[in-house]
Amino acid sequence: MTTNPSMTMYEWIGGEQTVRQIVEVFYPIVIKNESIGALFPEDIRNVQEKQFLFLTQFLGGPPLYSDQYGHPMMRARHMPFPITKESADAWLSCMEQALIEIGLEEEKREVVLQRLSQPAYHFINKMK
Ligand code: HEM
Repeated sequence: MTTNPSMTMYEWIGGEQTVRQIVEVFYPIVIKNESIGALFPEDIRNVQEKQFLFLTQFLGGPPLYSDQYGHPMMRARHMPFPITKESADAWLSCMEQALIEIGLEEEKREVVLQRLSQPAYHFINKMK
């Protein structure tokens, strides 16, 4: 993945600056998405900030989310929302668009999307 094996994915993609850009660009895309947009609140800033904290730690940066909110229990936190395979595909597709929009190079996009597809499909909690 990286030339330096001690580097985290977080560092490899550009650290805080990149994660900030991702959440800024990702949610406006999500909100407009036909399949998952309606699940999100109108004022997205709170979700954006939590996602900044979570993605930072998920990609190997400092544990910002856990410092504030304790154990992430992300699947449980998504239980109130119906998430199908289609929702997970839509979420990942919005993320891919965001990564393209911020100009992340293809190899890095693929690695990040691969990593995020694990929780995305794990959060599926509804058949159809
Ligand atoms: C699989 C498709 C997904 C859907 C449909 C989805 C949808 C949602 C929704 C509706 C919320 C709550 C918004 C609110 O507070 O009202 C939420 C919160 C959140 N999601 Fe997702 N999500 C998905 C995947 C993911 C993935 C893959 C990640 C991280 C890798 C993630 C991270 C988060 C975080 C950090 C929050 C905030 C949790 C908190 O309240 O502390 N989500 N998501």
